[in-house]
Amino acid sequence: MTAVMTKTVHPVAPRKTDFDLGSAPVHWLDGDPQSTHTLNVGNLLFPTGERFFNDSLRNALPYVTDEEVRRQIRGFLGQEVTHANEHERCVERMHEHGIDFSRPLKRFEALRRRLNARVDSLPEPLRRQAVLLMLAATAAAEHLTASLAGYVLEDNSWSDIDVDPEMRHLFLWHAAEEVEHRHVAYDVYHHVGGGYLRRVATMLPIGLLILVAWPLLTTEIMRRDPHAKGIWSWRKHLTRARRGDVFSLPRAVWDIRLYLKTDHHPADLPGSLDLALEYLESAPSVVGYRGRRS
Ligand SMILES: [Fe+2]
Ligand SMILES: [Fe+2]
Repeated sequence: MTAVMTKTVHPVAPRKTDFDLGSAPVHWLDGDPQSTHTLNVGNLLFPTGERFFNDSLRNALPYVTDEEVRRQIRGFLGQEVTHANEHERCVERMHEHGIDFSRPLKRFEALRRRLNARVDSLPEPLRRQAVLLMLAATAAAEHLTASLAGYVLEDNSWSDIDVDPEMRHLFLWHAAEEVEHRHVAYDVYHHVGGGYLRRVATMLPIGLLILVAWPLLTTEIMRRDPHAKGIWSWRKHLTRARRGDVFSLPRAVWDIRLYLKTDHHPADLPGSLDLALEYLESAPSVVGYRGRRS
């Protein structure tokens, strides 16, 4: 076991939410299909992705000896399961608008369950190595989500364009909690003995996959959307990203260079923790904490 690497000791705890998505229009972000569906890709990926993150941290619990790390894990699990559930509600809303992804999402979820059951049943020391790989993947993905989240919060938080208010609150709440808990998976990975090479080797394919898969998935949503035409345009993405209407994929991928530093820690990411906490203090439709704050 290595020492806890936590730089920012901040109590992570799940919050209760009360978003009303019933009146969100199909193109809830400035009436623009590509920008809206760029964000909607998150709705498709987060539920299963975040349950995978939780699998990796839950699987790590037998190797965690530090009570502070265990507390951070509990808070992380609670936040991510709430994110997964809320984004599943967004997927239902997309379905109501005629955009149906139920079959591929069921397959994606079944794959996660099978993978997790397989890892959990491995004998030691194989199990520990597989859990480290899952943790490395989670830490890498959390770096990317924290990077995207930081920009969403700092790029004026959609205050000057026409955005459905409840979808806006939902994405900003999620972004703020991603910044709040961005250190947890990374710290757990190091706490259970993860090293630099595995961390970096896991990040590179994940970063590349995001850069390729995000535009393809956005195009696929546009194809299934009865109210949209066309395919992903990089020129449009960059224009919208420059205005702060959507996060910038190239900028998030550029932030991967920070992850390659040997002394990297998620607390050093550009997104401001103070800004995230300030938002969460008075976030609309966020109605307190679930359970006791540890
Ligand atoms: Fe999340
Ligand atoms: Fe997260």
